[in-house]
Amino acid sequence: MPTAHLTLDPRAVVGTVNRRLFGSFVEHLGRCVYDGIYEPGHPTADAHGFRGDVVELVRELGVSAIRYPGGNFVSGYRWEDGVGPRDQRPRRLDLAWHSTETNEVGLDEFATWLELVGSELMYAVNLGTRGVLEALDVLEYANIRSGTRLSDWRIANGRTEPHRVGMWCLGNEMDGPWQLGHGTADEYGALAAKTARAMRQVDPDLELVVCGSSGSAMPTFGAWERTVLEHSYDDVDYISCHAYYEPKNGDLDSFLASAVDMDGFIETVVSIADEVKAARGSDKTINISFDEWNVWYMQRHLAEEKITDVEQWPVAPRLLEDSYSVADAVVFGSLLISLLRHADRVTSASLAQLVNVIAPIMTEPGGPAWRQTTFFPFAETSRLATGEALALALTSDTHETEQYGKVPLVDAAATHDNGATAVFLVNRSTTEPAAVTIDVAALGGVGLVSARTLSDSDITAANTLGDPERVGLADNTSAVIADGILSVTLPPVSWTALSVATR
Ligand code: AHR
Repeated sequence: MPTAHLTLDPRAVVGTVNRRLFGSFVEHLGRCVYDGIYEPGHPTADAHGFRGDVVELVRELGVSAIRYPGGNFVSGYRWEDGVGPRDQRPRRLDLAWHSTETNEVGLDEFATWLELVGSELMYAVNLGTRGVLEALDVLEYANIRSGTRLSDWRIANGRTEPHRVGMWCLGNEMDGPWQLGHGTADEYGALAAKTARAMRQVDPDLELVVCGSSGSAMPTFGAWERTVLEHSYDDVDYISCHAYYEPKNGDLDSFLASAVDMDGFIETVVSIADEVKAARGSDKTINISFDEWNVWYMQRHLAEEKITDVEQWPVAPRLLEDSYSVADAVVFGSLLISLLRHADRVTSASLAQLVNVIAPIMTEPGGPAWRQTTFFPFAETSRLATGEALALALTSDTHETEQYGKVPLVDAAATHDNGATAVFLVNRSTTEPAAVTIDVAALGGVGLVSARTLSDSDITAANTLGDPERVGLADNTSAVIADGILSVTLPPVSWTALSVATR
């Protein structure tokens, strides 16, 4: 049986876990908004048309900030189409997803929904087909109290109080050739810097995210970050990273090790940001907003769902509706481990996305909402990972993978908050359980609060409309503490969360 050992030392602090690490993303894409969070005819819908069952699940998931309204969608979006009387809102072509946008939901409605779920708004401006002026306009509409044309328009639309949006994304994936308005790093970097400076003339305290690469495999990765930051370093606070993982050619071992890529991605972007910092002699540090991450069976979707017919622009079609297996959720949980161990520099992250579209929550029109397998690692980590992320002394047996070479079979991250410590573990072996020992002596006398594992003898098992509770977390009864050592056995292809507290 493979083994792993780790030592927990509450003094070995990586950094404070920012609540924004547990953010998510709602894009006007497929059925995320329409038939997802918003379905006026649904039996659980409130007076605004928001599904109550979805609100409940989002609360249970423990989501902090939510990025909105895109995504690729934002690069063709006119924010003003989505405010004011609904019956006067235009229907528009959404070129990113070859759909019709009805504009029934816009900034004001989304802010109302966020109040229901208790999350913060992170707003993306359109720097694809629009620019500085439109960014200033939406900022004025959202954040200025009153007494100007756009703030008074918001008030006339029924929103007396400003939305007070603190965090703003300067466009989306502008490095991607698929992005409306995509250009060079120089072009985008200059536009992002101009926009940031203008927005800061309105409010110097805004937190601004400049677009980094849409994946570590992008041909411009690295050079893009450097150039964009050379333009915008003084004017922004974060650079974004996006990453989606899927098995390639059925290679499960490499897929289960996807966090190795995420680790490298984060560390490379941190190095580049710090290099630009040093070259400028700046005393300001740029952090990462990992504002799109997930498992996504992208190749399958792009091949099967591409609509090109100029006569066909469906409203809220079923797009990117991945059904997640146990193995997917284990990879997903390991990505959370990667984010946590970089908590000093990844201070914001958004699980892409939230409902129906590559999502932890699925819905049927007029029917139920249910938790996908990925729901569980997210909810458990969001609930338990508070305080400081710890640097772990981890040793583990290893195995070879085609994509990443030799990787540890067991990976882990831990957090410590006063007397409460949480450990998150993954076993990447597809055949064998792993025996893990954790030295908890430095925590003082601690007792086990909970040990819960996601695993299944069928790693392809998923939660579906017909069987919505097939997969969930189960108590891991192997976990025991004796003589300052916590021992636990991790089933093959599993994700586990342990919680211990001072006695
Ligand atoms: O999340 C789905 C899409 O993935 C987003 O619209 C885009 O930003 C990314 O490529």
